[in-house]
Amino acid sequence: MADYINFAVTGLLHTFLASLIGILVLFMLRKHRRKARAYEKLMPPGEMGIPWIGETLDFYRALQKNRLFEDFIAPRIKAHGKTFKTRLMGSPTVIVNGAEANRFFLSNEFKLVVSSWPASSVQLMGKNSIMEKSGEQHRVVRSILTSCLSNKGLEGLVPKICKVVKDHLEKNWGDKPQEERIISLYKTAKFLSFRIMCECQLEMEAEEELFECFEKVLEGIFSPLVNLPGTSFWRAKRARAEIEKILVKLVRQKRKVIEEEQAVGGAAAEETRTLLSRLVSAMIRGEITEVEVVDNIVLLIFAAHDTSSFAIAMTFKMLAQHQSCYSLLLQEHSNISTNKTKEGEDLTMEDVMKMNYTWQVARESVRLFPPIFGSFRRATSDIEFDGFTIPQGWKVLWTAYGTHFSEDYFKDPMKFDPNRFEEPISPYIFVAFGGGPRVCAGYQLAKMNILIFVHLAVTNYNWSLVQPNEPIVMDPLPLPSQGMPLRVSPKV
Ligand code: HEM
Repeated sequence: MADYINFAVTGLLHTFLASLIGILVLFMLRKHRRKARAYEKLMPPGEMGIPWIGETLDFYRALQKNRLFEDFIAPRIKAHGKTFKTRLMGSPTVIVNGAEANRFFLSNEFKLVVSSWPASSVQLMGKNSIMEKSGEQHRVVRSILTSCLSNKGLEGLVPKICKVVKDHLEKNWGDKPQEERIISLYKTAKFLSFRIMCECQLEMEAEEELFECFEKVLEGIFSPLVNLPGTSFWRAKRARAEIEKILVKLVRQKRKVIEEEQAVGGAAAEETRTLLSRLVSAMIRGEITEVEVVDNIVLLIFAAHDTSSFAIAMTFKMLAQHQSCYSLLLQEHSNISTNKTKEGEDLTMEDVMKMNYTWQVARESVRLFPPIFGSFRRATSDIEFDGFTIPQGWKVLWTAYGTHFSEDYFKDPMKFDPNRFEEPISPYIFVAFGGGPRVCAGYQLAKMNILIFVHLAVTNYNWSLVQPNEPIVMDPLPLPSQGMPLRVSPKV
């Protein structure tokens, strides 16, 4: 009998405990579901697409045709508003549009968001470059770069850049009066930007083989992280290893030279020091390491050559299609040339500063054809924006299109009109060069490169587009599909 009572009590106790646990689990599940529902309510509207892949295929299809805004972003803005969610390459992502979004996400770098590149880009550009740094480490590298990429740092470089551009034009566009050639503007301008970085900032020859290595790395930059023989990532990794070997040698040689100079108490004057010299000096002072120097050089070469060459190509495309703008631009350059007393006299920084209309044309061209359409950030905590919650860990994509192509900021936005830039534009509206702590560190060099090139090309050559309707595609950055052939001949 006692056994029976004992058994019954134990059974009851078990049933009671099991029910209690069941009730608790149910309660927690309901609470979690309620919280998730509340969270869901606060999250931006939008479609997450199919598991993992999300809307990646639609995104890439639009990107490849250079119609990301028209085919992907604009229809979603229409359906959900300026802030919407999607899933891209496995990551839940919020796409934000407009000047307020640009201001919020670009200026809150390091506080609420950090820049977020695909794993393949990080491995190929280097884990130790400025793009992977934040806070104080970012500040240290950035101050070294801006010391020689600012207007003051670049002043002494104007004659050197002119020399490289003249040599480039003579070799590629020809030097015999009226000799007609067909050249690929985009491809040759790419090599020119590479030459300017190598010869004016890195004290090295711009070898074709090295350039080819950079091209191979670029092909793998957004590829899947599959390091198997034959894949584009594998080819890119091998090319990156070649580049690294050359750069390590260059950095060590420069270190030896600087240390020898320092031993006898001499050093190059601050204003004549190149980017290489400043990076290596910082390494000697212990501010950065050798790998950081190498990774930053690799990043800078990438940051410079595809962007500037595309900006140059789009400036010429727009000039060819808008002859009245071209006449105004020619007038600006002929005024600068006639003020020169000697034939073939080099441009000065003062001359470059006078090229206001040309810079308006170039900015209007990159407004319509941004070389970098936007970039990804990652939320480091839950973020409240535009009445929504963006959960920690989600990606955020800001794009230049959100303001550049919007009637809210530019009247008749798809019309080419360089006069828009006559007056200063409020911050975070024109964002072809980004904004906030990560605003383009090479803005002044890019500007100088474009202006000097335009001056020497339009004053010395006749030119016309061979394919006026050549499409722009993305691979992985925007480019004219045929490399933008130009018919060129030296002016008599
Ligand atoms: C027309 C030419 C160029 C365009 C349109 C351009 C555009 C941009 C944009 C949009 C960003 C910001 C990316 C982000 O927020 O994630 C950026 C960053 C950067 N750019 Fe440029 N760029 C150009 C030329 C150059 C050149 C010539 C250099 C170097 C010599 C350069 C060096 C950099 C660097 C180092 C950063 C990263 C800055 C940081 O993380 O603090 N860029 N660029």
